[in-house]
Amino acid sequence: MEIRVKAGSIQTEIAPLIVVNLFEGVTEPGGATGAVDRALGGQIRELISAGDFRGKRNETVVLYPGGAIPAQRVLVVGLGKEEKFDLDGVRQAAGAAAKKARELGVTRFSTIVHGGGRAGLNLEDAAQAVVEGTILALYRFREHKTEPAEDERPDIEAVTLVEFSAEKVPVVERGARTGQIIAEAVNMARDLVNQPANYATPAILAETAQKLAADFDLRCQVLDREQMAELGMGALLGVAQGSEQPPKFIILEHNADRDDRSADRSRQGLDTIVLVGKGITFDSGGISIKPGEHMEEMKADMAGAAAVMGALRAAAALDVPLHVVGLMPATENLPSGRAIKPGDVLKSLSGLTIEVISTDAEGRLILADALAYAQRYQPQAVVDIATLTGACVVALGEITTGLMGTDADLVARIKAASAKTAEKVWELPLFEEYGEQIKSDVADVKNTGGRPAGTITAAFFLSKFAKGMPWAHLDIAGKALTDKERNPYTPKGATGVGVRLFVQLLRDWGK
Ligand code: BES
Ligand code: MN
Ligand code: ZN
Repeated sequence: MEIRVKAGSIQTEIAPLIVVNLFEGVTEPGGATGAVDRALGGQIRELISAGDFRGKRNETVVLYPGGAIPAQRVLVVGLGKEEKFDLDGVRQAAGAAAKKARELGVTRFSTIVHGGGRAGLNLEDAAQAVVEGTILALYRFREHKTEPAEDERPDIEAVTLVEFSAEKVPVVERGARTGQIIAEAVNMARDLVNQPANYATPAILAETAQKLAADFDLRCQVLDREQMAELGMGALLGVAQGSEQPPKFIILEHNADRDDRSADRSRQGLDTIVLVGKGITFDSGGISIKPGEHMEEMKADMAGAAAVMGALRAAAALDVPLHVVGLMPATENLPSGRAIKPGDVLKSLSGLTIEVISTDAEGRLILADALAYAQRYQPQAVVDIATLTGACVVALGEITTGLMGTDADLVARIKAASAKTAEKVWELPLFEEYGEQIKSDVADVKNTGGRPAGTITAAFFLSKFAKGMPWAHLDIAGKALTDKERNPYTPKGATGVGVRLFVQLLRDWGK
């Protein structure tokens, strides 16, 4: 989709549809909405006084100017109560308007920047949020439909942001560009997650990363089974041994030529941040096989890897001044005559041995080797993201990501990024005492800690492999897929959770 920015008055736009807004409780609209209302002879005021439009959050109404202005339609979107309005309100309003526009069958429209100049919201952030909300809301995944749905509307091809004051146009352009980069990265992650497991094998994920590297000037390295064996990634290879699909260890780097071994990096003052994403392209549970109901959702068990890939894409496109490394261990988890069995012991890359109690606790096994691999970068921070535990769905539901970490500053930074992006996170504790639950009789550690605090014991297990690095962990189980539209910009299906959070974390790193 094309995003344009121009200086001008929305009421003189020549377009099939223009979008303005209204706060709840306002009876005399001002600004751009007021100007449109006056041009329409008070039609918006009439709607309000008749009680037919109240400006409730994400409420929409369509007016037909009948020649009073050049636009064919006017869409008014409600912003809700002004005192409760924030940046996510902008995203949602833009999303609601964009979806309504598509329902109307238009293929382009013009809009004002919702919330620009409102209390606490700066214009650049608001423009970014408008574009994010628009592109995210219009996302759909139709790749495997051979015919369009009966009532399917065409894609919106172009959206124009109209800014009244010409000197503010560059600010709006900057925000719009950022928003477009980030939203397109989220939609790429959504595509990867929505893709069925036979179309998103480890090898296909690796090819996708290689294409991304070519398009966005990233460095990509893919380790195959032999290379992993040589390094000693026994935990990852243990999970992979039950599958016919070759596993891949995917490495994507932004500003790789300035990494810490080149001595260049310290001169340039670039910090290294490693993002690690769980890439189980299908989780059957392995020999500890899962029940059949909803097993198809386990195609989304690579949502962590998808989030990391999206974050690297945006980091490159935005050229964040950091050395960012994405590590994506990718494999299927399947039962077979060659598969690992409960009771097996694996030797991980770190040297620690792991007793496999459940082959369904495979995510922490592949992440263990990826975290050990991260050590070589001596990073300033490592954050992993994974659809790791059903216990996290029980504890925090489908809304909130579980956050755990060993570094208070890093955890605080993630919470700050969460507040800005409205990607909700909540911290769970990593008290030493939880370590008791994962002590093994035969190996250094075991891969399950029983039912109590399952999200925490999984994270505690990971912490053993992140020793010495500032580390945090995001458990997105239950958050990667949604069975119904969450909000106007989060349609049913893959959510792309984590991408916007990571990008915010990276963009704010030096601040
Ligand atoms: N991929 C699952 C976790 C999951 C559950 C993701 C529900 C999304 C929705 C993970 O590999 C898993 O199976 N975890 C087990 C761990 C247990 C055996 C200790 C779980 O949570 O049941
Ligand atoms: Mn599992
Ligand atoms: Zn899993």
